[in-house]
Amino acid sequence: MRCFIEVYGCQMNVHDAEILSGILGSAGHQITKDPEDAEAVFVVTCAVREHAETRAMGRITHLAGMAGCGSKPLVAVCGCVAQEHGERLLEKVDVIDLVVGPDAYHRIPELMTEGVRTAEVDQCSEEYEDVTPVRTQFPRAFVNVMRGCDNYCTYCIVPYVRGRERSRSASDIISEVRKLAAGGFREVTLLGQNVNSYSSGDTGFPELLEMVSDAAGSDCWVRFVTSNPRDLTPGLAEVMASRENICNQFHLPAQSGSDSVLKAMNRGYTRNGYMKKVAMLRELMPDIVMSTDIIAGFPGESPGDFQDTVSLLEEVRFDYAFLFRYSERKGTGALKLKPPVPVKERLSRLSVLQELQREITIERSKELLGREMTVLVTGPARVKGQTAARTRGNRMVILEGTGYEPGEVFSVRITGADGYTHFGMPVIPPVR
Ligand code: 5AD
Ligand code: SF4
Repeated sequence: MRCFIEVYGCQMNVHDAEILSGILGSAGHQITKDPEDAEAVFVVTCAVREHAETRAMGRITHLAGMAGCGSKPLVAVCGCVAQEHGERLLEKVDVIDLVVGPDAYHRIPELMTEGVRTAEVDQCSEEYEDVTPVRTQFPRAFVNVMRGCDNYCTYCIVPYVRGRERSRSASDIISEVRKLAAGGFREVTLLGQNVNSYSSGDTGFPELLEMVSDAAGSDCWVRFVTSNPRDLTPGLAEVMASRENICNQFHLPAQSGSDSVLKAMNRGYTRNGYMKKVAMLRELMPDIVMSTDIIAGFPGESPGDFQDTVSLLEEVRFDYAFLFRYSERKGTGALKLKPPVPVKERLSRLSVLQELQREITIERSKELLGREMTVLVTGPARVKGQTAARTRGNRMVILEGTGYEPGEVFSVRITGADGYTHFGMPVIPPVR
């Protein structure tokens, strides 16, 4: 069958779609980029916030109605929303044929031939070791190092939909990274809901990162997401600082700047503990690019607690921040916490944070004007006639023209900035 895959949510989902693509390909199906041409559509969904879920469900109904091949395509809901709602999705939405959770993608080819509406959401610690993912992001590649999460932050649905933590063996990860580097990939991003809890035999995350850095070699950059500040150790920071090919970039979700909110979230660190980790990273890597996630309006967040988050953003001055309003998620501990912050207040707090961070992001971006930076060309930009590239800090740099190949690495001078996007010109070596 001709299959169309659409993805929502985190990088883990983007990579899961690559795995799904590999499974479909091995079963003799073809991937199409055109939903109108598809006989089967797969939507890989995210359940982390209600908004993400609603959007994906809207898209599913829309895609089901496209019927480019004459009859309704087979519609499969995959990913975290599938895991969360299971069979109920089949009862509620009649265009859906298959509901498949993140551990059950192996069953998809079989379910496609059975032609029966089915939900398959057993959780079985699947790691897809036998699947060759179809990479869609060349020259960048995602590599899974662990799946699941045992942290149980009280707002978060992930432990319920992604299951318990399990780590891949270091040797499997290393051989995948070696193959990618040999195949011309110029960047690998190690993925896990909580990479710092990676543990396989005697290998923890800092050791794994060192091994990956060696396996990637000098021509291939290394990144990782996501880290819980609680588990960020000096050892990890030292490995980062000592390795040329590990990018000086850190996504360190703070979630809140208030100790009482952090406690109610079960984050396992205080504001002061968080600030110390930021200081440690910046001391070792003064040019490190830092980003964070923040939730506004968590239950019990008083105006004073909220001010603590505002001042955290002001003090740290993140290069970028992902800002969310709190969203109730079924089955999570925070549902019992009181008092809830009214939705209107959550939104107004969110917009205060957005406005503040927008200014900080612009200021930080302007600091780069005129600087020379190394970039990796990733492909065509959204705007025709331009090319997109990334710095080691993962900032996007737009180049005029299209005469660049994905995977090229060279120096540019930063000539402009628009929010978090920068504009650059290649630095031509002086003619002697
Ligand atoms: N409400 C709002 N934001 C949430 N996140 C996770 N769960 C929720 C929720 N219930 C945010 C966190 C996390 C990011 C991936 O999504 O900030 O780091
Ligand atoms: Fe969304 Fe979390 Fe699932 Fe990623 S793992 S898709 S962020 S719910």
